[in-house]
Amino acid sequence: MAISKSLNVNGERVAVSIDDPDMPLLYALRDNLALKGPRFGCGLAQCGACTVHVDGKAVRSCVTSLSSLNEGQQIVTLEGLGTPEKPHPMQRAFIEEQAVQCGYCINGMIMESAAFLTTNKKPSETDIKKALANNLCRCGTHARIVRAVLRASQSI
Ligand code: FES
Ligand code: FES
Repeated sequence: MAISKSLNVNGERVAVSIDDPDMPLLYALRDNLALKGPRFGCGLAQCGACTVHVDGKAVRSCVTSLSSLNEGQQIVTLEGLGTPEKPHPMQRAFIEEQAVQCGYCINGMIMESAAFLTTNKKPSETDIKKALANNLCRCGTHARIVRAVLRASQSI
């Protein structure tokens, strides 16, 4: 029997109808709420493509069960980070550095980097590489991604 689960996503209270309380957050975001920023890559917490923020921390939504979340927690997706009219500094930096090839990993790169900059406002290139070491990019866009994060750190 379907149950209703309340969440706070991108500043709004939403209710999703689910059959399994342990369904991954990623499925609810993409399938129930049509938020396509977070991507399904590995489904095993290995690639980072599905990263969102929960209470400001980068979280892999493919392995975060809905049952582990409550409506008091603030979930933010790429769509809630900024808008096309008013992008987050990290989104703007990725555009300015053209740090995208196919784009599949970029949700995770931006969300992980944005959360990282709240813990280290003036990171070195080495700090950034360490922070993104577990976010995979098969296109080899790493050099531009690091430049984008450095650029964002100078504008935040
Ligand atoms: S899809 Fe979640 S880490 Fe790969
Ligand atoms: S830009 Fe294609 S996987 Fe990173």
